[in-house]
Amino acid sequence: MDLETYIRALPKAELHLHIEGSLEPEMMFALAQRNGVTLPWSSVEATRAAYAFSDLQSFLDLYYAGAAALIHEQDFYELAMAYFARAHADGVVHAELFFDPQTHTERGVAFQTVLDGLERACDEARVQYGISSRLILCFLRHLSEDEGFATLEQAVPHVSRIHGVGLDSSEKGHPPSKFARLFARCRELGLHIVAHAGEEGPPAYIVEALDLLKVERIDHGVRAAEDPALVERLVREQTPLTVCPLSNIKLCVFPTLQDHNLKQLLDAGLKVTINSDDPAYFGGYIGQNFLATAEALHLSRAELKRIARNSLEASFVGDAERTPWL
Ligand code: ADE
Ligand code: ZN
Repeated sequence: MDLETYIRALPKAELHLHIEGSLEPEMMFALAQRNGVTLPWSSVEATRAAYAFSDLQSFLDLYYAGAAALIHEQDFYELAMAYFARAHADGVVHAELFFDPQTHTERGVAFQTVLDGLERACDEARVQYGISSRLILCFLRHLSEDEGFATLEQAVPHVSRIHGVGLDSSEKGHPPSKFARLFARCRELGLHIVAHAGEEGPPAYIVEALDLLKVERIDHGVRAAEDPALVERLVREQTPLTVCPLSNIKLCVFPTLQDHNLKQLLDAGLKVTINSDDPAYFGGYIGQNFLATAEALHLSRAELKRIARNSLEASFVGDAERTPWL
């Protein structure tokens, strides 16, 4: 069996996927036309050509511009259904989708419109593809904690439809400590907690995410390697890291995939998973992330199996529901 087929056949969960980051330029243009939205690019080709990033912020500027095409419940539904079709083709059996409500509510799109569309797709993906899923609301860390509280207020009436909260957007200068009160309230509501940390930001942000936000997983976390005591702690506590290798290359966190520290983290005993982050922008869905990383870092099939199994174990699915995969 060739490596691609082997990877596809591994049952796997995707735990780090921004649904807005799965908006392919073709769909972006189709939705923009349908909704009368003007995009900053002249064509699908010009859009793709603009996807040359120097850091996280240079990507985020385009990502927020592209998200402007999403207006109606049907748009969010179609976006998520397109993602589920791709994920199913890559052997994903469970997906935990991040969504950024503040990106939409600040443009006048109702919180409920976003949630209704995404949830309808989640329900249909279960029937059509047998994929289970969860929705994780991410707060934008470049905004204030008070703005986060306002968003949480909008979410509270729908809290049973949301499984967790996360923290994304511009990391540098926006440490987890900025959101300590907000996440304390989210924990009181019984929500699962994750946060992006140690993507571009220092290892100290990972420590803050653990100690102050009390995260159950770290999104990215690759800069943990710079702090041996932190690595030791993450190994001891088996805190999962949702690593996104192709994203890290596109955003210049590592110069090439051969330089990526995923194998180093795995060898140290960390609970590493592989994910796609924003596949429409970074040139690969989860299968491509597995394959390119396996080839660049010479991962064995046993290591790939371990990584896929880590993703199932690190998911927020209860033990009873998990038994078909594990
Ligand atoms: N939002 C979408 N993708 C992101 C990433 N890789 N880091 C931070 N925020 C994001
Ligand atoms: Zn991310």
